[in-house]
Amino acid sequence: MSEKITVSVIKADIGSVAGHSTVPDEIKALAEKKLNEAKEKGIIIDFRVFNAGDDLELVMTHRKGVDSEEIHGLAWETFKACAEKAKELKLYAAGQDLLKEAFSGNVRGLGPGVAEMEFTERPAEPIIVFMMDKTEPGAFNLPIFRMFADPFNTAGLVIDPSMHQGFRFEVWDIKEHKRVMLSTPEEMYDLLALIGSKGRYVIKRVYPKEGGKLPADEPVAVVSTEKLFEIAGEYVGKDDPVAIVRAQSGLPAVGEVLEAFAFPHLVSGWMRGSHNGPLMPVPFRYSKCTRFDGPPRVIAAGFQLCNGKLIGPVDMFDDPAFDYTRQKAMEICDYIRRHGPFEPHRLPHEEMEYTTLPKVLKKLEARFEKI
Ligand code: 13P
Ligand code: 13P
Ligand code: MG
Ligand code: MG
Repeated sequence: MSEKITVSVIKADIGSVAGHSTVPDEIKALAEKKLNEAKEKGIIIDFRVFNAGDDLELVMTHRKGVDSEEIHGLAWETFKACAEKAKELKLYAAGQDLLKEAFSGNVRGLGPGVAEMEFTERPAEPIIVFMMDKTEPGAFNLPIFRMFADPFNTAGLVIDPSMHQGFRFEVWDIKEHKRVMLSTPEEMYDLLALIGSKGRYVIKRVYPKEGGKLPADEPVAVVSTEKLFEIAGEYVGKDDPVAIVRAQSGLPAVGEVLEAFAFPHLVSGWMRGSHNGPLMPVPFRYSKCTRFDGPPRVIAAGFQLCNGKLIGPVDMFDDPAFDYTRQKAMEICDYIRRHGPFEPHRLPHEEMEYTTLPKVLKKLEARFEKI
């Protein structure tokens, strides 16, 4: 077993009430029971269960490293049990994200989303777990960029000598299954050229640079990047993502990490995974999707780690300081909703090809004439 701590956030939509809005308490209680049994057996050190809208979120700490068969197996068994319960309760889309029957050592490619990182726990280790619903992994591109590379967001990049040298970004091309490392500030424009295409290039991890306060081979942020349609072959819901971000002492302060969500930027997802809308930061109690199955939203759980034990959570967006962002998000909702089925509210045609739209258009195929 490793000296280092691993934080694993593994999530899946296993069924919801009413429609795609939220996870009922019975399901969360069952997940807690399962994880508590694993904690008592010493498999995990600690855990918390959340819901981001209709997604069930397992936050676990342990010393087994990333991609541990035992930890992924535990998450899979927990989701399976919860999906069974969801079927009993006739919840909506029960078992939605459990796309394959058999577990073979890892949940990747089976439907659940995963963000996990192994690192040396510092004397004080603040972490924030972000959980989104009704959107996709690229929704994290803008805020993660802001935290670690934008001096107008993060004062520490300018005034803290231990951050001044910048960070390294691991960017994934999720269509071609390739990745590239880019350093900021020197390659900032190259980085932006990629991650502005947020449906294709996603920030997977952020690392410190060599020679800094933190080990350069231990990530300081990680995002889940699963693409459900590539597994299922057709639309089965968006890939509602999660991320873990470490903060302070050579990293962005907690307030700099949260500041990145003060602007409700447009993300794709929302109704039927087919619309652009603003990302609204909300407290846990508002983590349910309502208007037009949204708007897309994000919750933030703040912790201090104590030898792997989770001290917290603090409900970071439960603060009037984010009221203005929420108000702004709703103004944008009202504006963009009035476009109805028109782009750019509805996603561009190419992205609709992964939805049910082609089936509608098929009916018209024979009626097209040459012009
Ligand atoms: P304190 O002086 O309250 O520890 O705050 C330091 C800091 O970095 C705030 O962002
Ligand atoms: P989820 O991806 O959150 O299940 O939402 C699906 C949907 O179609 C919402 O309208
Ligand atoms: Mg759902
Ligand atoms: Mg969801």
